[in-house]
Amino acid sequence: MDAKVRITLESLVNRLDDYFIDDPDAGRFNVHRDLFRDEELFALEMEHVFEASWVFLGHESQLPEPHDYLTTHIGRQPVVIMRDEGGELAAFLNVCPHRGTRLYPQRSGNSPVQMCPYHAWCFDSAGNNVKLKDQELGCYTEEFLQGDHGLISIGQFENYQGFLFGALRSEVPTLFEYLGDTRFFIDTFAQQSADGMEILPGEVSYTYEGNWKMQVENTMDIYHLTSVHATFAKIVGERQARENEAAGSDKVKAVNLNSLSGLASGTYTFDHGHTVFWGTDPAKENRALWSMRDDLLARGVEPLTVDWMFRPRVINFFPNMQFVDSASLQLRIIRPLSAQKTEMTMLCLAPKGEPREGRRRRLRQYEDFYNASGIATPDDVACYEDIGHGGLAASSQDWIQGFARGMENVIAGPDELAKEIGINPLHSSSGVQVQDETVFRGFYREWRSRMEVAKS
Ligand SMILES: [Fe+2]
Repeated sequence: MDAKVRITLESLVNRLDDYFIDDPDAGRFNVHRDLFRDEELFALEMEHVFEASWVFLGHESQLPEPHDYLTTHIGRQPVVIMRDEGGELAAFLNVCPHRGTRLYPQRSGNSPVQMCPYHAWCFDSAGNNVKLKDQELGCYTEEFLQGDHGLISIGQFENYQGFLFGALRSEVPTLFEYLGDTRFFIDTFAQQSADGMEILPGEVSYTYEGNWKMQVENTMDIYHLTSVHATFAKIVGERQARENEAAGSDKVKAVNLNSLSGLASGTYTFDHGHTVFWGTDPAKENRALWSMRDDLLARGVEPLTVDWMFRPRVINFFPNMQFVDSASLQLRIIRPLSAQKTEMTMLCLAPKGEPREGRRRRLRQYEDFYNASGIATPDDVACYEDIGHGGLAASSQDWIQGFARGMENVIAGPDELAKEIGINPLHSSSGVQVQDETVFRGFYREWRSRMEVAKS
């Protein structure tokens, strides 16, 4: 890196104390607005947050057959996951080692042999170089010909219950350790079918003009539901009223936000910046999974785990993966593009072998709330862009005031519900209709601790 830029970045990191006010005893937790708009900070967080440890890459059902591949990114770096002839999965930099051309230009596909478009070097689905074009005319040295011209593996690649994670570096915690007690919540998805989960066709991707951390916050932000999603609540409420009048109508009910008031909910913060929101569903029988409930118990899935499958829950895996299980089940992948531009990939996740009626119900609920064509996502994006395009231009206002809501409610360690599950969060917050902002603290503290490394 250019020395002049390096000094600038180091001096930025040395200002970390200027970016946070973290003093809960004094009722203060604030984040500086530069975290959402400064391109030099963005470059640092790509290096020390996204490219320094585990990120979510994809689900094994996205590449089920030998020679299937799926492209993605770790931070700024292109990555390809491939399933080889024998069915083994591996992840590599999506880069031809010859001149650095991106090797797989498509999002996904099936390719027993992939040819680089530039000089036609060829690679098999295990990442081995199988051909150097015109090798016999190449006048290569013997040393070069005996060298490895295969694709470069990423530092770590692991599969937890079908969910694929990778890290560029090899010196990272084990994935098991990194996920920690949040594994319980992955299990509430992964155990929904004896055959595991699958991503359904219809991946949706879009960009918004705003910082990636807005998406992290929004998914855990229950406070915004009754304002931003008032239209959704009104439409669902009116539809249900009509359906109740029409006996025998074809009912596929989505979660009605109007019915959530007065119900128990809470949040957990875990090591490594992961966070969880949980709620109470007043109409579990409307869930797609309901018809499989008896089968789940008969199959020997823990009753407590089955109970949790029917709680609305949102799980944020630091830094780029989100499960939202409220109206249907959505998996979200965050890809930061710049300080004020973010790409989202949204996937519908379902248990394999789901009965036809459950699958239909799942899809109808999913399209109601989610995606660019749903009634909710565009409203969230409009808010991000009102911040990204609008509010952040007010450079003389340095601090965000959020993160104070719930401060009097949060406790250190596990609450009773966490103890019942056997998990040990750093912080818990629970009660009636919790709309807690303190849950973001764990995320920002992890962000800060990652950036501290840049000082050394
Ligand atoms: Fe929202």
